[in-house]
Amino acid sequence: MAKGHRARVGDVVESATRASERLTWLDRPSYRLEHGIALGFTLFGGASDRVRNLLNGTNVGHPVHPAVATVPVGAWTAALVLDVVDTLTPRTAGFREATRLTLGVGVAGSAAAVVTGLADWQYTHDETRRAGLVHGILNTAALGLCAASWRDRRRRDQHRRARLCSGLGYGLTMASSFLGGNLVYRHQIGVDHSTNELGPADFVPVLPASDLAEAQPHHVVADGVGMILVRDGSAIHALGERCPHLGAPMVDGWLYRGDVVCPWHGSYFDLIEGTATRGPASAPLPTYEARERNGQIEVRRRSGVRSNPPGEVSQHEG
Ligand code: FES
Repeated sequence: MAKGHRARVGDVVESATRASERLTWLDRPSYRLEHGIALGFTLFGGASDRVRNLLNGTNVGHPVHPAVATVPVGAWTAALVLDVVDTLTPRTAGFREATRLTLGVGVAGSAAAVVTGLADWQYTHDETRRAGLVHGILNTAALGLCAASWRDRRRRDQHRRARLCSGLGYGLTMASSFLGGNLVYRHQIGVDHSTNELGPADFVPVLPASDLAEAQPHHVVADGVGMILVRDGSAIHALGERCPHLGAPMVDGWLYRGDVVCPWHGSYFDLIEGTATRGPASAPLPTYEARERNGQIEVRRRSGVRSNPPGEVSQHEG
């Protein structure tokens, strides 16, 4: 592809993604939709937290939407290829049934992607909320088209229409994928917002012990790494300063039954391990070692974590 042509394609994609972020008229319906989602979760009663954790990926420590979204993309790509082969060199009824099955797998995966996507989207704001809604509308339209195609493929007289529907659905999915990528790579939705700084290798004093009140997060900096200290009875815990979900300042959080609670969207993090026990966060909050010595609280990185030369990832010693 010529350089100028590539630049034009890039400009079109950039303009389209930016335009979706400026659709302010979507704000009102999107907040209504958010309230509808919240209401939907209340229908699960006492199980609503478990359902949320499942949809947000809190149980597996990673957002599940990106993984689930690969199912319709893969299945519908395969269905498109099979349709092209069948058009060029007509195949058997069994071949067409296999194509229909492939399309159906994509429809099921797409439905799961819409649900998990909505669960993640409800915590976005402004530009990301608008672009996320357009992304969801395109995917839902693609789901409807491919579901109609799946249904029509059983009827001989509707085969051409069925192929047209799934082809259109595939096109919408591809267009929507650019918006989804933009949300992750540019706006960092679904990305871990906590620090990847390791903290000091050896204990350093950060606060007089008498200054740390019970159950009241306190912000400190150790060798340039921000963290919060929490006193829980006789134990002192040191955790990351930013919530992994969207970067809320954890110093504004509070304690609840052995967890520290994010002040923005109510994720719970275990005080000892840092693991998310309630979503929407899925990644853990970093934890550090903390101790009291000579009236001072000292912190250091967890044992077993060592620094690497610049450009390499941190290692856990075996
Ligand atoms: S910023 Fe959303 S749960 Fe913490």
